[in-house]
Amino acid sequence: MNSPHAATAESVAVLGAQTVSKAFGGVQALRGASLVLGAGEVHGLVGENGAGKSTLIKVLGGRIAPDSGTVLLDGQPVRLSGPADSTRRGIGTVFQELTLLPWMSVAENLLIGREPRFPLGLIRRGALAGEAEAVLAGLGIHHIDPRALAAEVSLAERQIIEIARVIIRKPRILLLDEPTSSLVEREVEWLFARIRELRSQGTSIVFTSHRWNEITSIADRITIFRNGKEVGTYTAIDETEAITLMTGRRVEAMYPPLPSVPANAPPALAVSDASLGGAATFGFSLAAGEILGIGGLAGQGHRELFTGLFGAPPLKRGTIRVDGKPIRIARPSDAIRAGLGIALVPEDRKGEGLLLPLPVRDNLTLPILGRISTFGVIRGGEEARMSREMISRLKIRTPSAAQPVGTLSGGNQQKVLVGRWLLAESRILLLYDVTRGVDVATKHEICELIARLAQEGKAILFYSSDTEELAHLCHRVLVLRGGRVAAELTPPALTAEAIVSAAIRDADAA
Ligand SMILES: Nc1ncnc2c1ncn2[C@@H]1O[C@H](COP(=O)(O)OP(=O)(O)O)[C@@H](O)[C@H]1O
Ligand SMILES: [Mg+2]
Repeated sequence: MNSPHAATAESVAVLGAQTVSKAFGGVQALRGASLVLGAGEVHGLVGENGAGKSTLIKVLGGRIAPDSGTVLLDGQPVRLSGPADSTRRGIGTVFQELTLLPWMSVAENLLIGREPRFPLGLIRRGALAGEAEAVLAGLGIHHIDPRALAAEVSLAERQIIEIARVIIRKPRILLLDEPTSSLVEREVEWLFARIRELRSQGTSIVFTSHRWNEITSIADRITIFRNGKEVGTYTAIDETEAITLMTGRRVEAMYPPLPSVPANAPPALAVSDASLGGAATFGFSLAAGEILGIGGLAGQGHRELFTGLFGAPPLKRGTIRVDGKPIRIARPSDAIRAGLGIALVPEDRKGEGLLLPLPVRDNLTLPILGRISTFGVIRGGEEARMSREMISRLKIRTPSAAQPVGTLSGGNQQKVLVGRWLLAESRILLLYDVTRGVDVATKHEICELIARLAQEGKAILFYSSDTEELAHLCHRVLVLRGGRVAAELTPPALTAEAIVSAAIRDADAA
């Protein structure tokens, strides 16, 4: 009470949860959770997957009623009867699951309930797209076609429309549940500019994210959740301590010890004279059992390199050798081909790779259907056995192999993709930002899995937007800049700081 900050936050609390509990069947999602949102603050909410963040946001957003406990609005207990009720009271919520209606246009989704109308109340269909365009432009969004069906636009664009739809209703309180999980850096900057604008106008905001740098760059206070309730609320806390509180583990334990690369291991993959568009070229080789990191600023061609080695589309220029033999990769089927075994695990597992409505089992066995079929009929027993083994080997969290893969958490979807390529006996794994948006515990498991795969002799090319992860999980890191390898870092010089500095330093001037 005598702390000035606590006094301020308390006197002007606009929304709060008080010892809220909620169970789904046998799962206790919230166990007496509390949160106080102060006026005009951005409140970061962090915690592992399953900690109860989304459930709390659903309670505060009026989507679900708590079993016990109280929601306070401006200090008064309220019973929110549904999302419409909370909208009326000035609470805008972007839920973690996207809610756009796929068969309706972007404009219809955006302006639902506030369409331009004729005097007698009829919706002016012809004016809808123009109106939506103007509304989007007002928010700095120019690249989304309001006439497109929601189902036709990218996942990131859908997310942006979801956010825009809530913002244009000018809520007094804005709840954002993992709004950045499918956004790239530029789009995150767009969102943060909107958040700062709203905060300066007095809007109070709850923001959840798995990316710690986002939380620290935007949040005024941070509440850490674990096991269905808060562990504490902080105005300043460093990542190490936050992770310890979220998981009960130390951050050093996040990254497994690296198995050593066998001395004189022949290169499994060698690339020479490769170009990522410009005149500059580069090359590298990757040994069996090695984890080779690729670092550098966004837009330096990392993605083109990874998709290029997979033939989707092929590299513009360059020679690729597998086991010393030059090969041509014109399309993914060339890369996947038995004996070559190059596999790509992209970061956008929803858009590329997974068939979300299909069972985990089918997603795992997709590329090897030929091998487990007799005269075109899949041998179901074998398929079931292989997928069961992979589920237990990779610790994929799913009720069963028949579960639609789209219902799993992001990290577990990522494991299904890795599992698919292991079943296909791939030897060269191209892992592109595979832990992005994944919670701390699952990230830990994926890092352990990658180290184990290296130990089994897989050659791993690894890109991550998390520089710490590159520094800790790789034997070697190449930093790309301007289409060239600007630096090659090995321990002890391999640190996150060294990667960042090589990415931005002008090597020619040095
Ligand atoms: N509709 C639901 N039915 C069953 N279990 C649920 C449901 N929603 C959430 N849960 C469970 O409640 C727990 C908390 O989930 P959630 O609030 O989504 O956590 P977070 O957002 O922190 O990842 C998890 O164990 C989750 O599986
Ligand atoms: Mg959640």
